[in-house]
Amino acid sequence: MYRSHTCGELRKNHCNETVTLSGWVQKSRDKGFMIWVDLRDRYGITQLMFDEERTPKEMMEKARTLGREFVIQVTGNVIERVSKNPNLPTGDIEILVTELTVLNESLVPPFTIEDKTDGGEDLRMKYRYLDIRRNPVRENLIFRHKVSMAVRNYLSNLDFIEVETPYLIKSTPEGARDFVVPSRMNEGQFYALPQSPQTFKQLLMVGGMDKYFQIVKCFRDEDLRADRQPEFTQIDCEMAFVEQEDILNAFEGLTKYLLKEINNVEIGDFPRMTYDDAMKRYGNDKPDIRFGMEFGELNEVAQHKDFKVFNQAELVVGIAIPEGNSYSRKEIDKIIDWVRRPQVGALGMVYVRCNEDGIFKSSVDKFYDQEDLAKWAEKTDAKSGDLICVLSGETNKVRAQLSALRMEIAERKGLRKSNEFAPLWVIDFPLLEWDEDSARFHAMHHPFTSPKPGQIELLDTNPGEVKANAYDLVLNGNEIGGGSIRIHDKETQAIMLRHLGFSEEEAVAQFGFLMDAFQFGAPPHGGIAFGLDRLVSILGGQETIRDFIAFPKNNSGRDVMIDAPSPLDKLQLDELSLALNLKP
Ligand code: AMO
Repeated sequence: MYRSHTCGELRKNHCNETVTLSGWVQKSRDKGFMIWVDLRDRYGITQLMFDEERTPKEMMEKARTLGREFVIQVTGNVIERVSKNPNLPTGDIEILVTELTVLNESLVPPFTIEDKTDGGEDLRMKYRYLDIRRNPVRENLIFRHKVSMAVRNYLSNLDFIEVETPYLIKSTPEGARDFVVPSRMNEGQFYALPQSPQTFKQLLMVGGMDKYFQIVKCFRDEDLRADRQPEFTQIDCEMAFVEQEDILNAFEGLTKYLLKEINNVEIGDFPRMTYDDAMKRYGNDKPDIRFGMEFGELNEVAQHKDFKVFNQAELVVGIAIPEGNSYSRKEIDKIIDWVRRPQVGALGMVYVRCNEDGIFKSSVDKFYDQEDLAKWAEKTDAKSGDLICVLSGETNKVRAQLSALRMEIAERKGLRKSNEFAPLWVIDFPLLEWDEDSARFHAMHHPFTSPKPGQIELLDTNPGEVKANAYDLVLNGNEIGGGSIRIHDKETQAIMLRHLGFSEEEAVAQFGFLMDAFQFGAPPHGGIAFGLDRLVSILGGQETIRDFIAFPKNNSGRDVMIDAPSPLDKLQLDELSLALNLKP
């Protein structure tokens, strides 16, 4: 038996018991006549004690050889500590060791295994197994487990069935590139790893499964960010015989349940905002509504004077920074520099100080009088003491720029509180989105999303205006889920694919299996997928999903621990019929 208790378990009431513990040496202190060792496992830390008077000499010597991260087993008596440690759950006791076995030695770890480690990101990722020994990482993984369990409980109780779908599939377009896998048995042919189980879950509905979910890995070859990994996990869900309202209710229920179970936060009904509204009010389809600073559109009240920049702009729009009038000229210049960085891309910024005495002072006083500026203040809901920041230009661009500024200011002012939760539904997304590069329309969500009833005719005349039965769940400015009501008849699916630029042959080659299935009694259906990594990290009060993934990839998509991706040897390449295609 390696252990009778864990290292987090023993209390005063265990005193005088003989116990056996196993774990890692966190640290040791040698006072000559006494040696203390902190023994750590997943559950906590227990202090071990060796003392000259009671410990045999050989064991004293052995205790002196223990290095950091050695794996040891000890047996000893639980005794009450003289100087207690109120910061440690086991801080009332220590173990007077009577037997010591070194189970395994350890090299000196390349960084300290402590909450605040001296290890940089790269080093920690290379030795991720050591990183996982640290409390913050371990706690995040346990937290993730709790969320997954709560999801499974909730959905199972509602009669959802978890069904596994294949990983070796045919490419399903969801907007990103596929990771592909060569097939040895089918020379020159490739599988794709799923970007999501989208078509399979629809086929499960045709199969009569009615309510499906799966906590499932998805793979997308796209550029990485703090909230994106090339392989990530979805809580993927689909239901038959549902309308949008049914889906929103079911998954609002799941989200409320998680917030209550995991964070002990009760939230009322989630607000709903149309996509158009979200863009107008926040310049963003995933608005953070924990704080104000809503957009005020100023075309009407700013385009009647001689200020050319505004007069030529498609949109003039501003936000009021609360108490922003306290910023010095220098600080405002810094904000202007910030919006002019290439990543944001504004050409400049106009500002208005709203002084306490009710007088406005702007960077464009030459063109606008107090009456004009008062109207700007009204539109941006600025109070005295605020600073109005105004950007102008092409609508989509300027909205994105001002949205970036709004988030930056909120971050700087500490308005993005991690323990506050503000979910909302964004609904009525456009069905299609114009892509400049390929100069054609793409499905904004995916090609299986159904247009709103009665709008299919618009596809021919004004495709950009067609709205979809598509929705996103947004939490604290992050898209944590998205879904739609699907097309479930062959004709509509064919029309949709035609509008996305697929020829009839291409449509059959790529989606024939789905359209065939639609001919065998496909029920109306719809669903949603949550990004589990994002959901977990936000519930955990953070926004970097890497911290909640056991073995994440770095920003270049590499696993630096196992050193992947890596070249294949010639033999393997030959077997896969790939060698010939490789340039020397
Ligand atoms: P969508 O593409 O919106 O929908 O993805 C659903 C959710 O998955 C998360 N997500 C990601 N998380 C981490 N890294 C990534 N690279 C990444 N990409 C997406 C997001 C997102 O909201 N099949 C549809 C769902 C449906 O229609 O039911 C789909 O995959 O949180």
